[in-house]
Amino acid sequence: MRVRRRDQLICRWDNDALMIALPGQHRWLRATPDLLSLLQHLDEFTDVDEVAARFGDEAAEAAAKAVHQLHNAGILVTDTDDADAPAIWQHWGPIAARMHTEARDANYLVNSPHRDATAVQIAADGESPAPFKRYPDAPAVHLPRRTLPLRTPVEEVFAARRTHRAFAGTPVGIDALATVLACTFAPQRFLDGGAFGPQQARISASAGGRHEVECYVAVYDVTGVPPGLYHYAPEVHRLELLDATVDRERIAALVYEQDASYQGAFTCLTTTVAARLSWKYRHPRAYRLWMYDAGHYGQTFALTCTALGLAPFQTVAFHDSGIEALLGVDADHEFATYLLAAGNPAPDDGTGSTGQPYPPLARLAASAHRSPADLATDSPVDLATDPEQLG
Ligand SMILES: Cc1cc2nc3c(=O)[nH]c(=O)nc-3n(C[C@H](O)[C@H](O)[C@H](O)COP(=O)(O)O)c2cc1C
Repeated sequence: MRVRRRDQLICRWDNDALMIALPGQHRWLRATPDLLSLLQHLDEFTDVDEVAARFGDEAAEAAAKAVHQLHNAGILVTDTDDADAPAIWQHWGPIAARMHTEARDANYLVNSPHRDATAVQIAADGESPAPFKRYPDAPAVHLPRRTLPLRTPVEEVFAARRTHRAFAGTPVGIDALATVLACTFAPQRFLDGGAFGPQQARISASAGGRHEVECYVAVYDVTGVPPGLYHYAPEVHRLELLDATVDRERIAALVYEQDASYQGAFTCLTTTVAARLSWKYRHPRAYRLWMYDAGHYGQTFALTCTALGLAPFQTVAFHDSGIEALLGVDADHEFATYLLAAGNPAPDDGTGSTGQPYPPLARLAASAHRSPADLATDSPVDLATDPEQLG
């Protein structure tokens, strides 16, 4: 058997010891000087007997056994291992793999006798981070409190929701924007969260009711709202002006020029205020929670827009650091998470509720004379394997 060190290992210091993460396991291995020296010199595939011989005749047997153990633990790989490694970790890399491992099997104390004591301890650690962010000195646009009627039957809204990429180029009214913001981002009522204080209920679910999502709106073409970049303050249902010079061009530069992100009437840039989650959830799985929550908000945004006859779009194709700089937020505490945009739909943008039939009739006709075996080898879509990311 020929072995070499795994290309990338995740390490951490534990007091004065360097610990190496065992791939795919919650366990860590203490790195001794011998182990570090072994790894340092095992950059090429080398026969196990040759590796063991480096430790001298007397220690060779024990060294060979240790090498096999290191291979079983995933610290060393053989020349056939890479082919066996799940493709997802070949594609996403060892850092994502570690995050995945660390986030699994968190103990949620659901039926634990320690549950209440843990809650009290968290609450005793200090106040919960503020649930709402405010820019009290910013000029504000007070949004209409009365939402537009949302009377389209829910099954029609479900059937009509599509991702739109073309817009009519006509203004959206302030009432429609206010309705989208209120439904997607504003609390609808407050509940008793016990030791964790008052808890908001919004239309979207949110882990532990923490509602760590903030919304900033780039307004381009909304009747009653001057163009510019605003923070939406859900507590008081106001837009707080951050920068009146922000326009489509500024947003385009941060979203790789993807038209649908900025050609509508407005673009919501959502962020996560991580401390609202981490204060209550103190384990790595909590890193996943903002992703679930952002998804819920995204769906509420899309369904509200659809019910109002607006055309919604969503993407994560943006330059996080650039968005954070534009918003003026400290990315160690609040980071960019989702882009949600909308405008009036272009008359015929191919997103009708019946969609494009699949498979295309022309292809069915062209392949009618072919056998099922031929069809099985036919690749219907030519997915580019460009090093840049596919949208
Ligand atoms: C997280 C996420 C990211 C997306 N990013 C893009 C994008 O960058 N560009 C795009 O055209 N569509 C994007 N979409 C839209 C999807 O392509 C779309 O939802 C999918 O093709 C299904 O179509 P439908 O939403 O009309 O049902 C994204 C959707 C999600 C949920």
